[in-house]
Amino acid sequence: MTRPETPAQACPEPAAAPAPAGAEPTGARAGAGAEPSGTGAGAGEPGEPGELRRRYTAADLAVFTREEASRFVPQGDGDPQHDMVLAWELLYRLEPGLYDRLASAERLHPGVVSWLPRHVDQIAEVGAGTGRLTMELIGRGRRIVAVEPALPLRRILRRKLAAADHGDRVQVIHGFFDRLPLPDDSADLVVACSAFTPSPAHGGEAGLAEMERVCRPGGCVAIIWPNHLDWLATRGYRYVSFPGPMSVEFGSVPEAVELAGIFYSGAAGEIRRRGSRKVPFEVIGINPPRDLAFKVLPG
Ligand SMILES: C[S@@+](CC[C@H](N)C(=O)[O-])C[C@H]1O[C@@H](n2cnc3c(N)ncnc32)[C@H](O)[C@@H]1O
Repeated sequence: MTRPETPAQACPEPAAAPAPAGAEPTGARAGAGAEPSGTGAGAGEPGEPGELRRRYTAADLAVFTREEASRFVPQGDGDPQHDMVLAWELLYRLEPGLYDRLASAERLHPGVVSWLPRHVDQIAEVGAGTGRLTMELIGRGRRIVAVEPALPLRRILRRKLAAADHGDRVQVIHGFFDRLPLPDDSADLVVACSAFTPSPAHGGEAGLAEMERVCRPGGCVAIIWPNHLDWLATRGYRYVSFPGPMSVEFGSVPEAVELAGIFYSGAAGEIRRRGSRKVPFEVIGINPPRDLAFKVLPG
């Protein structure tokens, strides 16, 4: 693990290590709600996704817009009880407040946020969700554009920004990785947090190319809480991870037990036994949000 100097401008070549070969994080949230790699475990194992697996049915796929369906159910069908990626996408649209409660508890390592460049002009965030990262970006860029495809999440993010009196600093817009509604070379930092994966529906080659198109020469593309490190490393992305214990910080013990039942049931019993609202990521069985992969584009 390497702790680089805090960059004053867009990621100026910190001494970060390349992504170690074969070092895929285990049990990662897997961005964009992709299936955590612990899912194959038997019931009651850490990393087991919990009741989310049974929460929605194929009938719920009707909530997708045509654009969403073309990415998430390209064959026109799918079963969110067998495809956790679909279950997460339905969560964002059917129960955005529930997703927001989870994301608010799974806070980013402060090292990740402070590593990002500050005092830059333009920041573009893709897959902004309800703003776990967006709210941290305020103050780091003169202007921030938050791209998010799911309307219910955009609404929550706009409400949060307005409540914090930052509605004028951040523009929240609709868009997808593979077709970013942003000009070439327009941002000093292009960043995604727990949203990008190599799958075409959640980024893929086209999405990475789009992020790099939007980033100015000498700017930085950063993928926070990455999985598929090898995939990113072969595309020139380097890796930074920040050490130290990390816990999911729920609002209360009852909330910890409730959300664990939905999102990581394998840990619910242990959470109940511990009786604490703070639950170490190891107990939950997912990789903590302590890392990022980044590329500084040639100037
Ligand atoms: C796990 S959430 C993370 C949200 C937020 N970045 C955070 O860290 O809390 C994944 C996000 O990626 C978004 N997403 C999914 N597919 C996408 C796509 N093709 N293009 C852009 N965003 C996408 C989802 O709508 C959701 O907001």
